[in-house]
Amino acid sequence: MDCTLQIFLDDRWTDCAQIDVDDGLCQWNHLVAYAVDHTDAPLSLAEPVDMDIRHARTLPAFLYDLIPQGAGRRFLLGELKLADGPDADFPLICAGAFNPVGRIRVAEAVDYFETHVARHPAARGLPGLTIDDVVVRSAEFKETMFLHGMLGTGTTGVQGAAPKYLLTRDHAGLLHGDATLADADAAQHLIAKLPRGNSAADDKVLRNEAAYMRVAAALGIRTHADLPTLHGDVLLIPRFDRIARDGKVVRLHQESVASILGLPGFDPRPSLFEVVTGIRKVVSDPTAETLEFIKRDVLNLAMRNTDNHARNTAVQLVDGKVRLTPLFDFAPMYLDPKLIPRALRWYRPDTRVELTDWADVLAALPVPDHERQLLAGELGRFAVQIERLPDIMKAQGVDHDIIEFLTPSIDTQVRQLNALQPPEAPHATSNPTHP
Ligand SMILES: Nc1ncnc2c1ncn2[C@@H]1O[C@H](COP(=O)(O)OP(=O)(O)OP(=O)(O)O)[C@@H](O)[C@H]1O
Ligand SMILES: [Mg+2]
Repeated sequence: MDCTLQIFLDDRWTDCAQIDVDDGLCQWNHLVAYAVDHTDAPLSLAEPVDMDIRHARTLPAFLYDLIPQGAGRRFLLGELKLADGPDADFPLICAGAFNPVGRIRVAEAVDYFETHVARHPAARGLPGLTIDDVVVRSAEFKETMFLHGMLGTGTTGVQGAAPKYLLTRDHAGLLHGDATLADADAAQHLIAKLPRGNSAADDKVLRNEAAYMRVAAALGIRTHADLPTLHGDVLLIPRFDRIARDGKVVRLHQESVASILGLPGFDPRPSLFEVVTGIRKVVSDPTAETLEFIKRDVLNLAMRNTDNHARNTAVQLVDGKVRLTPLFDFAPMYLDPKLIPRALRWYRPDTRVELTDWADVLAALPVPDHERQLLAGELGRFAVQIERLPDIMKAQGVDHDIIEFLTPSIDTQVRQLNALQPPEAPHATSNPTHP
């Protein structure tokens, strides 16, 4: 079984690579014409564009970002009459990756989608929906979902456990399945995220995700300019991998940390030290991104967002610069009924023992000493903001009982960050680049 990958460059889709899977062996290569002309546009920042033919027992790591998961995976397994398991991954990409997050897609999946649309002629020209249609799951919404299956809304193209639809707002403000609206008609791209399950706790996690994002924004963490908004039990998340501009849509390169580390499979568990090293290898400003990553982890710990797995952090390429994407999937995951423990941790590279104090993490961080000092200074200053977290959370609408519950974890972070540098003299001036 083989497939052709396409990449969206200069306003069109271009064939770029061929993947062949046979009897558990995967072989892939860039197309020659692509390798010659596009060395500046890799499929993954970990895979240089060249003429090599790669062989492995697994699919290349970057492809795992495209494999349907969650509700989209279950839907497609049924359509394809496949049993779940690793052997299903490649057929699922070949049918489901016609419109994924990022700028890569699979040509065969586009054919699969077009065949599906042709079987449902009534789906053409369906009216757009309002957000209320989505919230109350109106008859129009159900019809759109049925006729387009989970496909038109791109559910197979967005990963994660919670049910999601990729929706696009047209210039009149109405919502459409992302795959069904022409680029020229697109004004804004959104992910509609529903609670993971049916329990009150699932609802609470999603309700607080919007507030958690506002808190992160208030603390200066990189967030998308348009923050998520809650409508009933639907979280509408503006996408940062698409820019609709002048009747065109720009699709940005986006790739998970699992992918830049070259880790295949769905649950890789790199140490956070490896994650930092991997991020520093590909980003344009390693110092800035290391600080950003560590601040996010301070917040994960303080606000108990335990689900910090290697696909919940990603990098993007914007205007020729590689950086961490704006924050996503930041929520009080400690409440999840599935009891999600903190997925990735700071395992000391030599001893593999977990470090749980920032002073120890900084000491073991593979960075030059002047950078270590700079990080210590910046994180010491961040303590002042973390100390104010309860008030900020209250102002941004986080549930009262969550704020109460977080008191000890916030205190721990404040204490550890304050210990990173001696308190400044009352009248000392501070310069962030030369502490
Ligand atoms: N605003 C966004 N713009 C572009 N891509 C996004 C955005 N938010 C999320 N994504 C992508 O969509 C994927 C799924 O989103 P998210 O992580 O929020 O879902 P989830 O179901 O809560 O995931 P998990 O299973 O990790 O809990 C992310 O891994 C990321 O690749
Ligand atoms: Mg996620």
